Amino acid sequence: MNLSTRIESAIRHATGDLKGCNGPGKLAAAIDYALFPGGARIRPTICMSVAMACGDDKPALTNAAAVALEMIHCASLVHDDLPCFDNADTRRHKPALHKAFPQSLAVLAGDSLIILAFETLAKALRQDSVRAAQLLLTLTRRSGVPVGICAGQAWEDEDQIDLSAYHQSKTGALFVAATQMGAIAAGQDGEAWYDLGALIGEAFQVADDLRDALNDAETLGKPAGQDDRNGRPNAVLQLGVDGAIQRLSDTLAGAIASIPSCPGEATLAQVVRAYAEKLTPVEPSRTVTPLASSSKVKVTL
Ligand code: IPE
Ligand code: IPE
Ligand code: MG
Ligand code: MG
Repeated sequence: MNLSTRIESAIRHATGDLKGCNGPGKLAAAIDYALFPGGARIRPTICMSVAMACGDDKPALTNAAAVALEMIHCASLVHDDLPCFDNADTRRHKPALHKAFPQSLAVLAGDSLIILAFETLAKALRQDSVRAAQLLLTLTRRSGVPVGICAGQAWEDEDQIDLSAYHQSKTGALFVAATQMGAIAAGQDGEAWYDLGALIGEAFQVADDLRDALNDAETLGKPAGQDDRNGRPNAVLQLGVDGAIQRLSDTLAGAIASIPSCPGEATLAQVVRAYAEKLTPVEPSRTVTPLASSSKVKVTL
């Protein structure tokens, strides 16, 4: 089974009960809308790739970790698009959840996905209580405060934003969780996998900032120019386009160099290299001159 099939089937399996139960049908439909069709599924892909590089001796645990990660990610997107955050009308080439359903259901679908994520890991306690407890702690740390997604989003309400802390928490945290949870699911020490996750996360956010500044909404499947419109600090504003591209390239090189020694090290390096290629900018689809540079590039992922 390839990774993509494994991820889709694991997410379907974990949410299988929702539609058949007697709960409110519209909330079940909203949760489904948030999860399917997915985006790049990059976090579960990284999680499973690391687990496989470490032997993947308990695949059900790996699946639970990957599903929980993607549920938290999808929840964060639903909440991020709400009017009280980025007020974005589209996501993944379709109306944002709060545009397709009442806003109240968008809040509840995000909340439900967060709870389902931790329920999925709690169920995995039956498979291996020690590893599952570590998975739970790792995901809580990277989802909440002081260094998880909640903290990251909350930086936007501070008078002075520390760009590095903002990016590390808002986006990097879930990539750290992805590498660490992949290792933990396969019985390895998560700490050794911190750097890889943090560096991939940093590269990803720089690439996302480049895409936001330079690509159009049609290409992105979500609104373009959001950082500028919402006054968010971002890598393009801070470094200029050329500087951001250089940062992206340096960070990805650092990520590949940081892969810990493990049986599947070479294959994992290939996966990260292929991902690095996807993040690398080519020519522009939106003729925008960013504030700090006149370079014009298109960023695809
Ligand atoms: C978008 O993440 C949100 C950020 C953290 C910048 P992705 O680009 O991974 O979103 P999907 O899941 O592919 O839609
Ligand atoms: C989203 O960051 C990060 C989280 C949802 C935690 P952004 O607001 O920069 O991402 P997009 O551009 O909406 O995907
Ligand atoms: Mg946002
Ligand atoms: Mg946003």
